[in-house]
Amino acid sequence: MLIAVFLDHSLSYDRTKDAQAIGACIQNMLLLIHAVGLGAVWLGEILKNKDRVRELAGAADDHELMAVVAFGFPAENLVKGKRKALEQAIICRK
Ligand SMILES: Cc1cc2nc3c(=O)[nH]c(=O)nc-3n(C[C@H](O)[C@H](O)[C@H](O)COP(=O)(O)O)c2cc1C
Repeated sequence: MLIAVFLDHSLSYDRTKDAQAIGACIQNMLLLIHAVGLGAVWLGEILKNKDRVRELAGAADDHELMAVVAFGFPAENLVKGKRKALEQAIICRK
């Protein structure tokens, strides 16, 4: 299953804040999908084909594709990710 996420330019008032809000919205989608036992992946590379996706989704010309979230039942044979440990990604100074 796919969720295409668009920015509606007719409702946009600040591109930076809209992009931040959309990112937070997608993160909440990912958390919910995980919470109900499904798997998901945030697809940004698909933005190379944003106009084609907009056409396929039947979205208006002033709707800009921001991401696609693909979700479904996760593979049973999970491949371990190469994600850094939290301590490697966050610097905390007192
Ligand atoms: C903004 C953004 C765009 C992403 N685009 C892609 C993408 O196009 N293709 C892809 O395989 N993963 C993409 N990812 C990464 C996946 O959503 C996921 O985080 C990655 O597969 C790592 O998963 P893991 O930490 O469980 O191994 C993107 C992540 C972010 C935050």
